[in-house]
Amino acid sequence: MDYTIKTLLTRETVENRIKELAKEIEKDYQGKELMVIGLLKGSIVFMTDLIKEIDLPLVIDFMSVSSYSGTTSTGVIKILKDTDIDVKGKDVLIVEDIIDTGLTLSHVKKLLIDRGTKSLKICTLLDKPARRTVDMKGDYVGFEIPDEFVVGYGLDYDQRHRNLPYIGIVVNK
Ligand code: XMP
Ligand code: MG
Repeated sequence: MDYTIKTLLTRETVENRIKELAKEIEKDYQGKELMVIGLLKGSIVFMTDLIKEIDLPLVIDFMSVSSYSGTTSTGVIKILKDTDIDVKGKDVLIVEDIIDTGLTLSHVKKLLIDRGTKSLKICTLLDKPARRTVDMKGDYVGFEIPDEFVVGYGLDYDQRHRNLPYIGIVVNK
């Protein structure tokens, strides 16, 4: 490897924050039918930790969307895997690893709202506000991070390091 990984957020820090987020979500969704939708693949480590700490009869599902591309400033996304369960009338919580430009989530959010969700919120482990190109905010945000490329806890560098139990910054040697 021609790079090293420098710890930004330790395992303990991340785990503790996820528990806090889960308790907030649990409080906000009392009496509701929560549907948690993870965006593959980046959300899986965060999502599995998160849902174990939410004491509600929730359902889970996943979507996989291709990263935006093309020439327009808003970009386009392609759905590689759609949800199995219909989102119509559901209180949906999208779980994402990181909000960067905000383009992915703005498209997914619009798509799900157009399908008739009862409510729609976003929970992201990380937020890199410095890189935002569209107006997009997480309703539940684990950590705001600086404009660095990070890996671990589901996030990858060329598909590697998703299994790291902490968040690290990729540093070129
Ligand atoms: P948006 O649409 O918000 O995209 O620009 C968010 C997606 O971009 C990827 N991303 C990262 N992946 N380390 C990663 O491993 C990073 O620092 C990083 N920043 C953005 C990620 O796939 C996320 O879902
Ligand atoms: Mg992603």
